[in-house]
Amino acid sequence: MSCLKNKKILLGVTGGIAAYKSAVLLRGLLKEGAEVRVVMTEAARSFVTPLTFQALSGHPVHTELLDPEQESAMDHISLARWAELVLVAPATANFMAKLASGQADDLLTTLCLATTAPISIAPAMNHQMWLNRATQENLEKLLSRGVVCWGPAEGDQACGENGPGRMVEPELLQQQVQQFFTQGALSGVRVLMTAGSTREPIDPVRFIGNRSSGKMGYALAEALSEQGAEVTLVSGPVTVSPPVGITRIDVEQAEEMRQEVINRVAQADIFIGVAAVADYRPSQVADEKIKKDRQLVTLELVKNPDILAEVASLDGAPFCVGFAAETENVEAYAEAKRQAKGLDLIAANQVAAKEGGFESDQNALLLLWQGGREVLPMMSKYQLAKQLVERISEQYHASRQELVNTE
Ligand code: C5P
Repeated sequence: MSCLKNKKILLGVTGGIAAYKSAVLLRGLLKEGAEVRVVMTEAARSFVTPLTFQALSGHPVHTELLDPEQESAMDHISLARWAELVLVAPATANFMAKLASGQADDLLTTLCLATTAPISIAPAMNHQMWLNRATQENLEKLLSRGVVCWGPAEGDQACGENGPGRMVEPELLQQQVQQFFTQGALSGVRVLMTAGSTREPIDPVRFIGNRSSGKMGYALAEALSEQGAEVTLVSGPVTVSPPVGITRIDVEQAEEMRQEVINRVAQADIFIGVAAVADYRPSQVADEKIKKDRQLVTLELVKNPDILAEVASLDGAPFCVGFAAETENVEAYAEAKRQAKGLDLIAANQVAAKEGGFESDQNALLLLWQGGREVLPMMSKYQLAKQLVERISEQYHASRQELVNTE
């Protein structure tokens, strides 16, 4: 049976060009057995007529706050109480601003204030509007109040520009809703993780860094989120798109990555270090581009902080998982690293192997934990991530149980 069967979803549609895609989302949710009621703002009705949503849902669309006829069918408070999930897709910058400031000047904003159901938003707007500090501050506010944000996606925009701001495609939004109603093995568990590589500047145009595509870390973030974990990903520059439904914090240098991790680690149940953090950084960064007239250049490097080891050594540290990329003696080196850094689990891979490794879509891992080991053979990084999450989840729950038993 679908996890959406008889789930009561209030779909809010605000005034963006992506409003037409919400009709596809509505169909998908209904097909899975959800009960959906639609609320449209005035601006949304300039893009799509309520009749479209009415015909698809088989129910009148709610548009007015103080219309006696609509209120007699189901008043706005009953509608707010009825919902098990409020999903606003698309959510415009204006709607986010109103929600963040607690305004209630139309039916949808009033409902959002009156409901006790979780609220999720799928932002859709021009990329400059999305990146505008006002919108980002509104987003921070909404996230801190528990509003769930799905997207936006990056790519071509209706305005002809390119960047983050597209509404997440209806099929992906539907998956998010399904995950929301599925109790995963890591439901409610807060995971903080690092991914990608760091860039340590030499001068304004050059840097040193490690190889990492970010594929493994991003696949892992997705697999964790599918199991219901609340994932915060502190990420260096990567080429892959971020999974929907996670909080991503972008950084460049190891020091920034460390700071963002330390700021958040007290709220984490699990910490996973996937990032290929540069071990060293230039001791001095040139203000101007270094000229290439010298035959020999010497760079002085200083050691970067080991983020994972630092987190694992904290009082009340979260369950800590690390990665080890080795070229030889994989098991011995990885186990030594696990112990030296004080990790609960380490995932090791042989980077000199013909298949797998850095830019590849495939990989194999050897998992080691106190008293246990498991080989995960060569497979897609996504499949691998799923299996790794199973093991992390099992070991994490076992460690919590141990804590309870010893208290
Ligand atoms: O010591 P090594 O770099 O091989 O350890 C790899 C593991 O430690 C990875 O999980 C990586 O994310 C983490 N790490 C870190 N900070 C560093 C170096 C590595 O968090 N400076």
